[in-house]
Amino acid sequence: MSQVHYDVLLIGGGAAGLTLALRLAPHARIALLSKGPLSEGATFYAQGGISAVWDKSDSIESHIQDTLDAGAGLCDEAVVRYTVERGRTAVQWLMDHGVPFTRETRPDGSTDYHLTREGGHSHRRILHAADTTGRAIEMTLEDRVRREPNIDIYEHHLAIDLITSNKLGLADQRCLGAYVLDKRAGHVHALGSKFVAMATGGAGKVYLYSSNPDVCTGDGIAMAWRAGCRVANMEFIQFHPTCLYHPKAKSFLISEAVRGEGGRLLLPDGAPFLDQFDSRAELAPRDIVARAIDHEMKRLGVECVFLDITHQPAEFITSHFPSIYNRCLEYGFDMTQEALPVVPAAHYTCGGVMTDLHGRSDLDGLYAVGETAHTGLHGANRMASNSLLECLVFAEAAAEDILSRLPQCEPPPALPKWDESRVTDSDEEVVVAHNWDELRRFMWDYVGIVRTDKRLQRAKHRVDLLQQEIADYYGNFRVSNDLIELRNLALVSDLIIRSAHARHESRGLHYTLDHPRPNDNAPPRATILTPS
Ligand code: FAD
Ligand code: SIN
Repeated sequence: MSQVHYDVLLIGGGAAGLTLALRLAPHARIALLSKGPLSEGATFYAQGGISAVWDKSDSIESHIQDTLDAGAGLCDEAVVRYTVERGRTAVQWLMDHGVPFTRETRPDGSTDYHLTREGGHSHRRILHAADTTGRAIEMTLEDRVRREPNIDIYEHHLAIDLITSNKLGLADQRCLGAYVLDKRAGHVHALGSKFVAMATGGAGKVYLYSSNPDVCTGDGIAMAWRAGCRVANMEFIQFHPTCLYHPKAKSFLISEAVRGEGGRLLLPDGAPFLDQFDSRAELAPRDIVARAIDHEMKRLGVECVFLDITHQPAEFITSHFPSIYNRCLEYGFDMTQEALPVVPAAHYTCGGVMTDLHGRSDLDGLYAVGETAHTGLHGANRMASNSLLECLVFAEAAAEDILSRLPQCEPPPALPKWDESRVTDSDEEVVVAHNWDELRRFMWDYVGIVRTDKRLQRAKHRVDLLQQEIADYYGNFRVSNDLIELRNLALVSDLIIRSAHARHESRGLHYTLDHPRPNDNAPPRATILTPS
């Protein structure tokens, strides 16, 4: 690592991390970490787009109301307003950096950006770059970041834990940096900074079936919790209704925009079914659609349902969804000619590290931005395409706050080295692999789309045992990427199970057969967990 300490240690190179880096770069020295290649994260795979009030017929109030409705009573209205009001500027910032959003020619001959539609949105308000919006954002911002002299990029560097002043016996409570594993060299460094910002993404890999890439293991949530920060609403895990059902497809996402452009969900006999569950049918919020699919699959004992957009001309499909079309062809499905087999899969972590409007966490000097944070925007269910928006808006807010505090902030003291004196090389890597599989399977079976008290108890019992085993392993053996991720996944699973247990009602994405209705006798409240 080229210098002892930085102004800002930024962990994560997705939409949140890259935006924050670019906003800070003119005024601060930054270390930007990613645990794989910089581009590998959920952002790269985002398909549908980014929501913003763009069309004249749309309004801020309408976007706010849709977000609040999807959030099932648990959104923080001030945060929703703050975010939605900044939507257009955030998208414009992306355009100014060169993100190639798709344009269209209107019937009157004028051209503007094409707006697609997704579940929960009462207007067309999703700007997109065909069906690879995330890739367009990630690659454009990454290119900019790589040209910034103030940003040192450390790819394949995994943050293990935060270093806090109280762990060093100092009086104040502050974040001073992080221990970081250089995965290629196999060394752990203590990296100091005036501020640390976590943009580590979500925790979809907690579940056996997930649309998320492998890096989404909830590391930021786990690190912040271990450093003493509260987390909120961890029970609200979003399951995307439509991932391709194919043994080799690794839950490849079929964008909600396919339904936005008229795609219909069908049972194996070709019958539509969603209008029996919600008057908005295919465009109901995701919790409703995913639960309806789950219900029908269990009722009929079938392995998938079908998504049919064949009524649209082939040219429309291949131009709007070129990437999805080609990926499906690779798996033997021509979506211009046939319905696609689809199933739900874990997709988005609505809860996370509690932050304020500046992205500040409970720990002085530590910020959390993007999917790893709980800002209050999403409530009990995130509305489609509000996530990239949140990344951009809160990265800007955090950057402003950090820059306003930077001149008064002292550099961190010398940090203790990582202690490896009592560990040896593991001789049983199989334990880590086995525990990974076990964890993700029981989370899917017991803490999935439909929960019960008994299933949650079973899951709690198992996660407690796993955590003991992992702690033992962690204490005795040298750290590896898989061990660190497993440790974090187990902790995040525990937080999900405890939060789900604490909610004695069904609301948004949390549905339990033991309390199948929302509790209307008390005002809705967030589930907040505090480290002991
Ligand atoms: P990510 O983009 O996930 O980036 C996380 C970064 O943190 C990575 O660089 C990773 O390497 C790094 N990291 C993690 N842990 C560590 C560690 N311990 N040490 C070092 N680095 C670490 N949202 C929308 O709004 N619109 C969409 O169309 C959309 N489509 C989606 C499609 C898919 C398939 C998926 C999976 C998600 C989609 N989402 C969409 C959600 C959205 O993409 C994510 O919520 C958002 O991109 C998260 O951005 P982020 O910057 O918080 O995290
Ligand atoms: C999608 O394209 O369906 C994903 C959109 C999102 O998760 O916001």
